[in-house]
Amino acid sequence: MRTVALPSGERVPTFGMGTWYMGEDPARRADEIATLQLGLDLGATLIDTAEMYGDGRAEEVVAAAIEGRRDSVFLVSKVYPHNATRRGAIAACERSLKRLGTDRLDLYLLHWRGSVPLAETMEAFAALRAAGKIRHYGVSNQDRNDLEELWALPGGSEIQTDQVLFNLTRRGVEWELLPWLRERHIPVMAYSPIEQGRLVRNQKLAAFARRHGMAPAQAALAWLLKDDDVIVIPKSGHPDRLRENLGAAEIRLSPEQLRELDGLFTPPSRATPLEML
Ligand SMILES: NC(=O)c1ccc[n+]([C@@H]2O[C@H](COP(=O)([O-])OP(=O)(O)OC[C@H]3O[C@@H](n4cnc5c(N)ncnc54)[C@H](OP(=O)(O)O)[C@@H]3O)[C@@H](O)[C@H]2O)c1
Repeated sequence: MRTVALPSGERVPTFGMGTWYMGEDPARRADEIATLQLGLDLGATLIDTAEMYGDGRAEEVVAAAIEGRRDSVFLVSKVYPHNATRRGAIAACERSLKRLGTDRLDLYLLHWRGSVPLAETMEAFAALRAAGKIRHYGVSNQDRNDLEELWALPGGSEIQTDQVLFNLTRRGVEWELLPWLRERHIPVMAYSPIEQGRLVRNQKLAAFARRHGMAPAQAALAWLLKDDDVIVIPKSGHPDRLRENLGAAEIRLSPEQLRELDGLFTPPSRATPLEML
């Protein structure tokens, strides 16, 4: 499994697993746990979750999947913006830890920016880190202007990632957010990398994938994985789909294939506000 260094120096796999919508249907729970466990077996040891997902039930699915193997997992969770106050973030983190059945998170992210001042959230994150409840912190859905503001705050330059919407049909981040992060050696975490499944059904991508002997989801993920500093976190609750998605980690798209994809999914030609789902 390819890895990337976080600013802290720690290396994490560039292929992780998302968990949005897990834990919402009891009939799917066993498959979801089995899929996450298969991913861990195959080296996708980064799991992304959030207190928001299924009102905490996704974190409970993750707890079941990582039981007995916590130390080999890089566990990421996120705090709601309305909980991201000095005291609220600490309480929210304690609740997440309890649901996850662990004593620490590897990375704790501000899910998106709300009305709580960023400085307050940074203070809470620093306190959580000092207490050993989180090892690192970062942000999600922050555009370049938010990051610049954050950077000027105490602790703001210690963020380990910005988790943002990034896939073949959402390329706006390439214009200025990615270069900004790259200058600072901060890997980006691409969420909804297959556009919540819509890219699998995209006719242009399906035809490209057919021409080149890969599955559409693999083409979408391999495109993101062309750069070594992008972490993808596709979600699937099906072992067979996870295996298919993981195949993308073995694919290196050629310059010709990348040019073909640029023709099908146009790169940005100007700055646009960061999109989010
Ligand atoms: N920070 C944020 O604001 C934010 C926002 C969105 C997402 N996220 C994170 O990013 C993760 C990934 O994003 P996402 O879940 O929105 O979307 P995604 O990973 O792009 O797509 C997930 C959807 O695609 C389906 N799928 C997965 N692999 C497939 C395959 N090989 N063939 C066909 N269908 C496939 C899944 O269905 P099955 O499960 O039935 O296979 C699911 O419906 C989330 O789970 C979450 O952890 C973060």
